Amino acid sequence: MIELRLPKGSPGSRILGIGSSQPERVVTNDELSKIMDTNDEWIRERVGIAERRFAAPEDTVVSMAVDAGAKAIAASGLNPSDVDTVLVANCTTTVPIPNAAAQVAELIGAKAAGGFDLNAACAGFCYALAAGSDMVRCGSAEKVLVIGAEKLTDVVDPVDRSTAIIFADGAGAAVVGPSDDTGIGPVAWGTAGDLVETITMPNGKHIYQEGQSVFRWATTKIAPIAMRALELAGVQPSDVDVLIPHQANLRIVEAIAKRLRKAGAREDMVVADDIVTSGNTSSASIPIAMDHMRAAGRVHSGDVALLIGFGAGLSYAGQVVICP
Ligand code: COA
Repeated sequence: MIELRLPKGSPGSRILGIGSSQPERVVTNDELSKIMDTNDEWIRERVGIAERRFAAPEDTVVSMAVDAGAKAIAASGLNPSDVDTVLVANCTTTVPIPNAAAQVAELIGAKAAGGFDLNAACAGFCYALAAGSDMVRCGSAEKVLVIGAEKLTDVVDPVDRSTAIIFADGAGAAVVGPSDDTGIGPVAWGTAGDLVETITMPNGKHIYQEGQSVFRWATTKIAPIAMRALELAGVQPSDVDVLIPHQANLRIVEAIAKRLRKAGAREDMVVADDIVTSGNTSSASIPIAMDHMRAAGRVHSGDVALLIGFGAGLSYAGQVVICP
């Protein structure tokens, strides 16, 4: 039988640079309380959000992805033409054709790059990061631009207080490239299909969620998945410098951090709280949080970061990465 040739690939992969993009418009809780029955105190106490960013009509998933992606490429010291593959995780493009990735590749200057969209809802960035990392290690790609980009205001009823106070818009990106060492650990991923009905779009237009069911699931089931990601990477909880869970609700983030600290994570482990000023940006929340923490000097190059995404599906994915 004929033997097919395989590319050489790389012993490891790593994040070379990150970037993020948010719309200019800041929306406070007080502003929302003028159009629906809610208030600043309730939102801060139950969700932890003080303000979020809403996109302008001309901002799109693609435009925000391009902005974040260009910053990540610049931070990695590469040229756009060095990128050979573009992955865009998203669940909010209202028109599926053409896909976002092909448009991003063209607009960013990664001409003729391979590209596809990937939908794992709020877990999307971690799924795409795992796919990009494996592509680099297997040799099917060399420099992968991994983006999470969402315009949730397109799919949220603007006066539904169970969703409109939570969701927001933005994009975050990472460039993944080859490495002699392992800079991106194995992924722990899966789905809880029995809970598929807890986050849906019943009218095909707006997100509906059973808030309490999702809250219960996230606060009990996600920390063990994060622990599994540590185990797969051969990392102890005490080795984790930074914990970056999907920014769904500050109380969920704190519950995950508490469980990890009970399992041995350090008290001085930095925990992402970007939801306070960014809201829940679905697949964009993890890279946006990482980029903001880097800019604020809370995350440093070489730090061991534990990423864990979770959301509709219900889907989840997490991995250990070394910060660029
Ligand atoms: N403003 C003011 N009051 C509100 C409110 C709002 N935006 N939303 C609900 N309430 C009221 C309810 O009417 C209820 O009042 P009652 O006790 O008089 O009946 C009370 O607050 C509690 O409502 P409940 O739905 O039990 O709130 P909660 O504590 O579960 O918080 C969520 C609601 C949605 C914030 C919370 O369940 C949550 O974050 N779930 C996870 C959702 C999530 O993360 N989704 C994304 C996954 S990627």
